Amino acid sequence: MSDKNRVFIFDTTMRDGEQSPGASMSLEEKIQISRIFDELGIDVIEAGFPIASPGDFEAVTAISKILKNSIPCGLSRANKKDIDACYEALKAAPRFRIHTFISTSPLHMKHKLNKSPEQVVDAIKDSVSYARNLTDDVEWSCEDGTRTDMDFMCKIVEIAINSGAKTINIPDTVGYTIPSEFTKIITTLKNKVPNIDKAILSVHCHNDLGLAVANSLAGVSAGARQVECTINGIGERAGNAALEEIVMAIRTRNDLMPYSTGIKTDLLSKASKIVSNATFPVQFNKAIVGKNAFAHEAGIHQDGMLKNRETYEIMTPESVGVKKTSLIMGKHSGRHAFKEKLNDLGYVDVTDDVIQTAFGKFKVLADKKKHVYDDDIAALVDDSMILDKSVINLKSLKVFAGTGEPQRAEMKLDVYGEVKETSETGDGPVDAIFKCIKSLYPHDVNLQLYQVHAVTEGTDAQATVSVRIEEKGKTTVGQASDTDTLVASANAYLSALNKMIIKRNKTTAPIELETQKMKGI
Ligand code: KIV
Ligand code: ZN
Repeated sequence: MSDKNRVFIFDTTMRDGEQSPGASMSLEEKIQISRIFDELGIDVIEAGFPIASPGDFEAVTAISKILKNSIPCGLSRANKKDIDACYEALKAAPRFRIHTFISTSPLHMKHKLNKSPEQVVDAIKDSVSYARNLTDDVEWSCEDGTRTDMDFMCKIVEIAINSGAKTINIPDTVGYTIPSEFTKIITTLKNKVPNIDKAILSVHCHNDLGLAVANSLAGVSAGARQVECTINGIGERAGNAALEEIVMAIRTRNDLMPYSTGIKTDLLSKASKIVSNATFPVQFNKAIVGKNAFAHEAGIHQDGMLKNRETYEIMTPESVGVKKTSLIMGKHSGRHAFKEKLNDLGYVDVTDDVIQTAFGKFKVLADKKKHVYDDDIAALVDDSMILDKSVINLKSLKVFAGTGEPQRAEMKLDVYGEVKETSETGDGPVDAIFKCIKSLYPHDVNLQLYQVHAVTEGTDAQATVSVRIEEKGKTTVGQASDTDTLVASANAYLSALNKMIIKRNKTTAPIELETQKMKGI
């Protein structure tokens, strides 16, 4: 495979991905994500939007210092203040990229920027050349590219390259294009922009019509050599193109797409899990990383699989790092074996406190449940990691449910070190539980989502509950697992609440407000 067929993977999980409601990540989570991304073989990691908030600035700075292979990148609008913030956050890295963007469609120039095309051209020249004085590696994006006039786009791409951009990114910001149209856009740029060979063309597709991956691959087939994407496809609105889908499509259909990436595909599953733990659960039928992606239910399929796996399997689960779920230790297994198991499951940076808590929970679970599977163990560790940072914790819960009576919950909570108790009735047991929490720790949030699913099969399976809450435009997601769905519900709500408390305590800088306004938050 020649170098001209190498496709660079630019990940924006921690920037565009974080813009999805409920996906905000803590600094520790971002560091953990960066480590696995570095190992995964991602070429460029867009670690944040440094001017947006002190939290973003801090994350980009920290990530820039730890990456061993991937190039860190920060986003900036087309002004010196944004670009300077990027430079300050990135400068500790031996190599880094500044990504600057401006809107170029008639709609955005008029209504969002209130600028004429000539003013936009000037801003492109100024911002790209300013960034280029700070680093050799400048990427320029024309926001709302797919709704930009084609002749204007050819002109501004040429200008951006002349001003020093080495990567030209064409975003389908609103997920509006279709593969044939996007092919035409990339082909036209290749054919009409005289200096196009001096830059790498990149594509950045949103998924509003469910076409982000198809459009990105069309862009690559037409000559783009960088794809911007996110793990699990998280991102604004319907999300961005999913990294794992792009990479596995290229690998699986290499006969039709003879390109290569630097991604170690057997780490995709692990990366997906780490990102979903920090953000929200992946849908069961999600391509490549969904729980059902390699499950064969129909008898006729199972029969075919037993005869020859290729009958119904176009890629192996092992190729994306899915190991056969194994029955694990029983209640007599020791702490050492438990720790080894965590290592096997990819939990490498886990503190002793978390291991201790998870091990205690494992013993209780092994007493209750006949078979404890890998997924059960993973759910226990995920819960214990959240507990480690919580200021409000469940001490005990009793629920009286069933027909006739109003459902009632009795709860003891540890609130900042003080144990408090109450009893509430509600419209169903979950309502009674959430009312107890509100009474013991008064707060005012909107419950946006309450979802239950089983971790493994059987009536003794653990349930994982996901809860999303919203307070003054900020959202957080909590997850928890337990064989008792009501206990999992209480813990999931508390997990979301604890994250909200952490979020509240972070100061909101004026620029963050400005950015939120910009993003329409
Ligand atoms: O979707 C978009 O246009 C973006 C740009 C900032 C690249 O995310
Ligand atoms: Zn985007």
